[in-house]
Amino acid sequence: MLKLDQLTRRFKDTVAVSDVTLDFPDGQMVGVIGRSGAGKSTLLRLLNRLLDPSEGQILFGDNDIARLKGRELRAWRSDCAMIFQQFNLVGRLDVLTNVMTGRLFEMPGWRAMAQVFTAEERALAIQALDRLGMAHTALQRAETLSGGQQQRVAIARALAQRPRILLADEPIASLDPLNAKIVMDSLRSINREDGITVVCNLHTLDTARDYCDRIIGMQAGRVVFDGTPAQLTAGMAREIYGAEAEEAFNESATSTSLASDPDAAAAPVRASA
Ligand SMILES: Nc1ncnc2c1ncn2[C@@H]1O[C@H](COP(=O)(O)OP(=O)(O)OP(=O)(O)O)[C@@H](O)[C@H]1O
Ligand SMILES: [Mg+2]
Repeated sequence: MLKLDQLTRRFKDTVAVSDVTLDFPDGQMVGVIGRSGAGKSTLLRLLNRLLDPSEGQILFGDNDIARLKGRELRAWRSDCAMIFQQFNLVGRLDVLTNVMTGRLFEMPGWRAMAQVFTAEERALAIQALDRLGMAHTALQRAETLSGGQQQRVAIARALAQRPRILLADEPIASLDPLNAKIVMDSLRSINREDGITVVCNLHTLDTARDYCDRIIGMQAGRVVFDGTPAQLTAGMAREIYGAEAEEAFNESATSTSLASDPDAAAAPVRASA
């Protein structure tokens, strides 16, 4: 179980994450929603300690994550793999090498620098690629792949890390609907089959509703909703998104019912495809 206790992160006058207390039980698939600037990315970056909290605690079992340093901190970052909107692959390197770099934490520095990988590391990387249906691209340069393919490789790289938690910061924001579906299906099957906790920032409501066990709504750094998709009423969703509601809802098939029909409040929003 991952626990956040009164977690706060400030940037000068901005409170990006404000007094957030949350539990993430192992194996949950959690969607974090909210308008631009609500603090979603900051929350994820605090979890894997790309950022340090200004106040509060992050606990994983008995470990106080906010205090980890050196090797222990690197081990934690390896335990919670992160995938990004822009994939963050090294374009000039082949796909297999990109995936094997997911294992860098466990490798001595000289091997990582020289890109010397063991047969076992190769096998693990191929296996991860195969799960994402990308093994056939192993020897291709990453920059020759489409966006959707690159994101699948990025997920394979995260998997090769054998993480306990998978953090995804708007993983489908740059993808077309078909690739978005493939990527979200992959994240969900990893969650279900491997029991890996997935925490995913999502811009569109229908995706969060369709894929997540639990939705956390953020507004101005605070958690303003925490519940199941069924508990997220249209009114609450509208409040979370504020001025961005049209954009967030228009990408879902039943956006009009969300906008005006009070009886639609409890009805889940379904994806159009
Ligand atoms: N490195 C930083 N320096 C200063 N301010 C920052 C920094 N990172 C984030 N912020 C501020 O913190 C707030 C939360 O930003 P964050 O990126 O977490 O929002 P977000 O919910 O991910 O938004 P988006 O949907 O646009 O990605 C914003 O006001 C942002 O300007
Ligand atoms: Mg963000």
